[in-house]
Amino acid sequence: MALQTRLAKMLGLVHPVIQAPMAGGMTTPELVAAVSNAGGLGSFAAATTSPAAIRTHIAAIRAKTDKPFAVNLFVLAPVEPNPSEVAFANALLARYRIELGMETNAAPPAKWAEDFEAQFEAVLDLAPPVFSSTFGAIGARKTAALKARGVLVVGTATNIAEAKLLEAQGVDAVVAQGAEAGGHRGTFVGRAEDSLIGTMALVPQVVDAINIPVIAAGGIMDGRGLAAALALGASAASMGTAFLRAEEAGTHPLHKDALGKIDDTATTVTRAVSGRHARGIRSRYMDEMAPHADEMPAYPVTNALTTTLRAEAAKQGNTGLMVMWAGQGAPMASVKPAAEIVEAASAQAEAILGARQEAK
Ligand SMILES: Cc1cc2nc3c(=O)[nH]c(=O)nc-3n(C[C@H](O)[C@H](O)[C@H](O)COP(=O)(O)O)c2cc1C
Repeated sequence: MALQTRLAKMLGLVHPVIQAPMAGGMTTPELVAAVSNAGGLGSFAAATTSPAAIRTHIAAIRAKTDKPFAVNLFVLAPVEPNPSEVAFANALLARYRIELGMETNAAPPAKWAEDFEAQFEAVLDLAPPVFSSTFGAIGARKTAALKARGVLVVGTATNIAEAKLLEAQGVDAVVAQGAEAGGHRGTFVGRAEDSLIGTMALVPQVVDAINIPVIAAGGIMDGRGLAAALALGASAASMGTAFLRAEEAGTHPLHKDALGKIDDTATTVTRAVSGRHARGIRSRYMDEMAPHADEMPAYPVTNALTTTLRAEAAKQGNTGLMVMWAGQGAPMASVKPAAEIVEAASAQAEAILGARQEAK
């Protein structure tokens, strides 16, 4: 109970450890509940989940834990892509569809992304203990509506401008997402390429810039990383890649397997998979598509166009065409029950810090 940071106290957490939201089926109710029951904060990544399925998933989490947990969404506006940009992307993707034995001139997806407004309404109605978001700021009105329902609101920043904007809109805490992080970059002010700031440099700058608790994310894999984050002034660590191989995680078996085989240079940031910069294990698809990565339509259009392709690749065990998001710390991810990851990180950080942490 020694690492009682400001955020840990606000949420009644035993450990200042957040299992980061990870869209793509990783954050099963079992994973979220295991982390929350262990005294950390589990997060359900709901970005690619329909409002109806969000309700079912939250009910499943509530059936497994009475502890706080978070629900996470991507802040997205509806898109109407130009048919020519869709045709351009499809032409580039055709060779992969042929390789996988798929239809090359398939009809466009029924929807480019889940409707954010409808997802938000479902989450507001269900009022989980914590709401977190990335890719944008939800605005002061939505923030106030959540807070009025007793929901603690968290936004994601990759630079100081974003952190200040989120604070001004009334959020309770900000995730400072460093360049090491696996998955999508949250950047929404300025170019993503300019906000690849390492966690070590970003966290203290964000801590100095705002007055609400800061959650460090990116490359934090164990108690050493957690202790470092707390020493930099963070109130908690949000760990994603560290939970990808957890026993309860819904990560594809080939993805779990690949994490056990890669080295420190294996990940890269690419725009070619989804139309938004994201870090994952370098693949043949990423290498071959690198010359066109900046020309692909913006998220969610490219993401929608590659969804069936990636799913088929996963089905066929074609790892060169699958996407396996992961952070720079991936070789340190271990196969363990999630509760052990939380408890070990917290105990190790406490031993390193060697004293009661009266943190920010
Ligand atoms: C597979 C994967 C999926 C992710 N999906 C989301 C998401 O849905 N929402 C979100 O806010 N962040 C997402 N992220 C980013 C994480 O929340 C977090 O910032 C990141 O995992 C921290 O860095 P680490 O992976 O080095 O621990 C994802 C990360 C990974 C690895």
